[in-house]
Amino acid sequence: MLDIQKIRADFPILSEKVNGKPLVYFDNGATSQKPQIVIDAIAKYYQEINANIHRGVHTLSQLATDAYEISRVKIQHHINAKFSHEVLFTSGTTHGINLVTNGFASILKPGDEVVVSSLEHHSNIVPWQMLCEKTGATLKVIPMNENGELIIEDFDALLSEKTKVVTVNHISNALGIINPIKYIIEKAHAVGAAVLIDGAQAVPHLKPDVQDLDCDFYAFSGHKMCGPTGTGILYGKEEWLNKLPPYQGGGEMIKEVTFEKTTYADLPHKFEAGTPNIAGGIVLGTAVDYLNNIGFDNIQEQENALLAHATKRLLEIEGLKIYGTGKNKASVVSFNIDGIHPYDIGSIIDKLGIAVRTGHHCAQPIMNFFCIPGTIRASFSFYNTIEEIDTMVEAVKKAKTMLS
Ligand code: ALA
Repeated sequence: MLDIQKIRADFPILSEKVNGKPLVYFDNGATSQKPQIVIDAIAKYYQEINANIHRGVHTLSQLATDAYEISRVKIQHHINAKFSHEVLFTSGTTHGINLVTNGFASILKPGDEVVVSSLEHHSNIVPWQMLCEKTGATLKVIPMNENGELIIEDFDALLSEKTKVVTVNHISNALGIINPIKYIIEKAHAVGAAVLIDGAQAVPHLKPDVQDLDCDFYAFSGHKMCGPTGTGILYGKEEWLNKLPPYQGGGEMIKEVTFEKTTYADLPHKFEAGTPNIAGGIVLGTAVDYLNNIGFDNIQEQENALLAHATKRLLEIEGLKIYGTGKNKASVVSFNIDGIHPYDIGSIIDKLGIAVRTGHHCAQPIMNFFCIPGTIRASFSFYNTIEEIDTMVEAVKKAKTMLS
């Protein structure tokens, strides 16, 4: 078992007070908190090696380039990519997905089909819709059931030789449901479709193995896994990254430029135009090390205990309904109380120091499915405690009494 108090001491913000109360941070789905080692690594970069990368012969530029590329290799090993040039630094999941949809604009034709799931975050719906509008392709949606699970027989039925891309999230941000992505990838490949997995909500909880999954693209953000904001990774299979055109033109993504013609750099640089978030990319490697030192088995054990306790305790409250009751879940509880707007509960418990997200969670189709304006979402991390959950349950009860 993890020594949670020792781990909590790594995160300075966890001993802060908010509205005069000890902070209970249950908005980890939106962004995770940062351990001191990550905060220090950012300062260390700017204090000791700040320089532009891949450009200078001077010592600092080389030190910065080395640190950046070492971080890429670290992340390659973390997700088990075959080559480090299949690991692209991005500003986050949204950037990674848009890079891919932009590339498919030159591949898709009218009559082609893109399959998304009804559990997607807007960032894995809107770019595909824009792509379909541009190319004349059609967007198809895998439906979900009352438990918040994808209906797999309906997914099977959607697939045909017209399907060119299938995209689903690994874990739903709004409900915490873990999708059967391995099955989805296998079935999509059987009809020749490429598969993008939105791993934004998965990477804080598990270590994806992109070769075992056999996905073509896997996008995630650094800030949800203890890393800095403005960082992310797009994994892409070499053959796909070679096939897709660059996303942005600019410095460092070229081989040769003349006014007549430009040739592009090899992977990964073809997709990394401009000066990147150098400190962020380096420090994302620090965050990955931090999580691996704790160990994903330990992380899951703690988070499963938190999920089970929160589910049991919240259901003691009369009129409380949990959305996303499927069996395979990450540590997220999305709920409402009969007749009370989620925003009102969220605002009252904030006054008691408890941070949750309320609203549609950038997943309006899920809210429309359940005919609700939104939910209260408590999303837990390994550094949260059972006592914090009890504090939240008491706060929700208090809010219910005030609002009833
Ligand atoms: N996508 C993030 C969330 O679910 C911001 O809260």
